[in-house]
Amino acid sequence: MKMLVACYSYTGNTLKAAEALQRLIGADLTRIEALKDRWYLFKAYYAIKEKKVPIKPCITDLKDYDGIIICCPVWAGKTPSAVNEYLSKLENVRGKKFAILITSGGGKQQKASVRIKEQLEKCGARYIDMLRILEKDINNDEYLKKVESFAKKF
Ligand SMILES: Cc1cc2nc3c(=O)[nH]c(=O)nc-3n(C[C@H](O)[C@H](O)[C@H](O)COP(=O)(O)O)c2cc1C
Repeated sequence: MKMLVACYSYTGNTLKAAEALQRLIGADLTRIEALKDRWYLFKAYYAIKEKKVPIKPCITDLKDYDGIIICCPVWAGKTPSAVNEYLSKLENVRGKKFAILITSGGGKQQKASVRIKEQLEKCGARYIDMLRILEKDINNDEYLKKVESFAKKF
């Protein structure tokens, strides 16, 4: 199964987990990056409002892949705006598998993951699983065990 790991990471936590996953399953990795950085409060506000912001070029066409794993942090309980934009740009999603890897400081990750799941299911993709990782687990390497067990699904 050829998977694409699409990762948004502002401070590096999600990227650490995404890169470990990518290595374990031999996937390609594409970085989702906002074209412009914004102040913390704008980041949170845009996330709450479910806005989209322009992103740098990255892989958005899934024609060469069996599926995609969206990796991102929780912002204000929701998904970062760059991820909202990325999801809207995806092509050839129908029939592909998808999974989600979410990191957070400790709060609920529910709304962020639900939004990604709904968006991709609306485009005809098939949900496999979700992995939630807390920031404290990234810092003490506990995340590796979780990522290893998650990787067995691909
Ligand atoms: C703008 C902003 C909003 C955040 N909002 C939340 C939140 O609502 N709940 C939470 O648990 N963590 C929140 N966090 C913490 C991040 O989700 C957490 O640190 C995550 O692991 C960061 O991933 P990254 O290093 O890949 O960017 C927020 C961080 C930022 C920068």
